[in-house]
Amino acid sequence: MKFGIDQLNIYVPRHYLDMASLASARGVDVNKYKVGIGQHKMAIIAPHEDIVTMALEASYDIVLEHRNDIDLLLFATESGIDFSKAAGNYVHKMLELKPNVRILEVKQACYALTGALQLAVDFIKNHPTKKALVISSDIAWYGFNNPGESTQGAGAIAMIVSANPRLAVIGEGTYFTEEKTDFFRPSYQEVPTVDGKLSIRCYNDILKQVEHQKPFRYVCFHMPFANMANKANEQLTHPISNDRLEHVKYFTQEVGNIYNGSLYLSLASVLSLSDVTPNETIGMFSYGSGSIGEFYPLTLTPNFKTVISPNKFLNHIQTRQEISIATYEKWMTEFIEKEKSSDYQTSLDARTKTTRFYLKAISNGHRIYEKSTF
Ligand code: CAA
Repeated sequence: MKFGIDQLNIYVPRHYLDMASLASARGVDVNKYKVGIGQHKMAIIAPHEDIVTMALEASYDIVLEHRNDIDLLLFATESGIDFSKAAGNYVHKMLELKPNVRILEVKQACYALTGALQLAVDFIKNHPTKKALVISSDIAWYGFNNPGESTQGAGAIAMIVSANPRLAVIGEGTYFTEEKTDFFRPSYQEVPTVDGKLSIRCYNDILKQVEHQKPFRYVCFHMPFANMANKANEQLTHPISNDRLEHVKYFTQEVGNIYNGSLYLSLASVLSLSDVTPNETIGMFSYGSGSIGEFYPLTLTPNFKTVISPNKFLNHIQTRQEISIATYEKWMTEFIEKEKSSDYQTSLDARTKTTRFYLKAISNGHRIYEKSTF
């Protein structure tokens, strides 16, 4: 029996900031962002969104046919909203999953989603009739006016893990871990402490430890910014071609860093744009600061095209609305205030019409979500 990803879906906020607007506001040459870092746009959450609403948007369509089979819900995030209560509890309620589900929130910087995926595979190997819902949802937020600002983004990934998966079989990974100080966010900090140059070195060092040293036509990477893929590709024993690298990078260029989901956004980009074929094996490299890395082979099934609609992802990425720098600064200021408040009320204006789920209010620290009726 084989085990892996039965279905995958992505959610990216419906608004973006063009990197030219950020460059102009910060007095930086736009080519530093668009050419040097490789970022064209940056996804921005609207005030009614948070990691739970993004997770719901990513999960909703793919859980419909599995609602009664899901026994495990793993929610990977480094943008947690509560030290005790798992964000997955809200997801479980809003998706109307059955009551006997194990829910865990998983943290290991940007690696947690890959770790959760491998653990879900192990769970399904022991319980092949069951299914696992594995989600990531993150808001990459470094604050205004610093080098990390150009490498922000937001988004969620949802995957159903099962026996005899329809999309891809997950192979054995090689992993390596080493305590590092490249990127961390202690509980008293709103934004991470980052040593950008060290973090790039740590990433590349671990990639060299775990890569499988054999040729793949496509390798997907965790991408904190799109051009990290160029740096990573140079480390491989068998680098992939430049034209294929463009497919690996495209969604990240348009969205920015989505932390845990970044590697799977890259996979979605490849599935949407490239000439990957049935039974093809893709190399997958996951990196989490602090630090840990894993490289594993992901083999597409003979019929993977029956569960992936390339145009759906592409359309999702290409139908967003641009916002101004003023709106970006207003919304992210509101985001920080909201995340520090015990009480909050979302103004139900036209913006909410862009998503199916929204955060209606926070009351005494408890979050109240609603589903739009349209
Ligand atoms: N035209 C063209 N290119 C230009 C340019 C211009 N006018 N000005 C600068 N550049 C190029 C530079 O030459 C450089 O290219 P190389 O990397 O190929 O040398 C690139 O643009 C970036 O320039 P700098 O290195 O000077 O940029 P910076 O000091 O502002 O820092 C950064 C860049 C380190 C990525 C920073 O944005 C950062 O710290 N980001 C957050 C941390 C991060 O993303 N780390 C990556 C690994 S950690 C990880 O993977 C976990 C995670 O998700 C965070």
